[in-house]
Amino acid sequence: MHNWYDFPTYYDVSFSYDMRDELVFLKKIFKKYSNSPKPKLLEPACGTGRLMIPLIQEGFDCSGFDLNKNALLYLKQKLNRRKIHANIFYDNMINFRIHKKYDGIYCTVDTFRHLLKENDAKQHLITAKNALKKHGIYVLGLHLIPKDKKIDKVTRWTAKRGRLTVKTIMSMVKLDKDKRRETLRVELKIKTNNQNNTFTSIYQLRTYTLFQLKKILRNVPELEIINVYNEYYDLSNPITLNSGIDYAVILLRKN
Ligand SMILES: C[S@@+](CC[C@H](N)C(=O)[O-])C[C@H]1O[C@@H](n2cnc3c(N)ncnc32)[C@H](O)[C@@H]1O
Repeated sequence: MHNWYDFPTYYDVSFSYDMRDELVFLKKIFKKYSNSPKPKLLEPACGTGRLMIPLIQEGFDCSGFDLNKNALLYLKQKLNRRKIHANIFYDNMINFRIHKKYDGIYCTVDTFRHLLKENDAKQHLITAKNALKKHGIYVLGLHLIPKDKKIDKVTRWTAKRGRLTVKTIMSMVKLDKDKRRETLRVELKIKTNNQNNTFTSIYQLRTYTLFQLKKILRNVPELEIINVYNEYYDLSNPITLNSGIDYAVILLRKN
């Protein structure tokens, strides 16, 4: 069994697929809500920096950390090749060091759900709140368990970069609503010029219903929900947070 985050090239190709709307959204949000000419952004669990690199190129001052050393090395090499700078460090989402105060923090694509224990998730939100400047924005994107709606059990997509093709098959193998654990299986089918390989990874994420999300957010009243969006990341189309939502992008502002 593998950990797919240990293969940063494949992760990066796979997750860079279809990220245009997410990126445009983040750029617009942080420009809209910050009055700094070069807003300072932090990406907890930044992985390979698929979002961070284009944000730096757009003029943001970016920092990020992760617990995966392969991903951090890959990101540093990418930054060096492009001759651009970011503050990259090894740290844990639960209780990371705060080097400076940020205008914005973003944590999308279910990364927050890697924190399996309620106290760890709560501590993350408290640390993130402390890391934000007054009126700073936290963009939190995660899947919720929708009420009365079928959950897609398998998602597949194929992404290409140069001669590399990565087919990703992500399947939910178990959902335990009482223990609040979703078990996911990710299969990466890799094709290069003359080689085919498959890597399989199994891991767990914490689950959230709307009620459970609202409950944990109540622990950090300084972070106020100012808007919510769905998986289309359409800034002109905010939605109301309701129990039918399956992916929510929540805009929290520090008061
Ligand atoms: C879905 S990836 C997201 C990477 C990046 N943020 C992105 O949007 O592409 C989740 C990342 O969380 C990292 N991670 C998981 N638990 C962590 C923790 N407790 N502290 C820091 N990073 C963590 C993994 O190493 C992985 O890089």
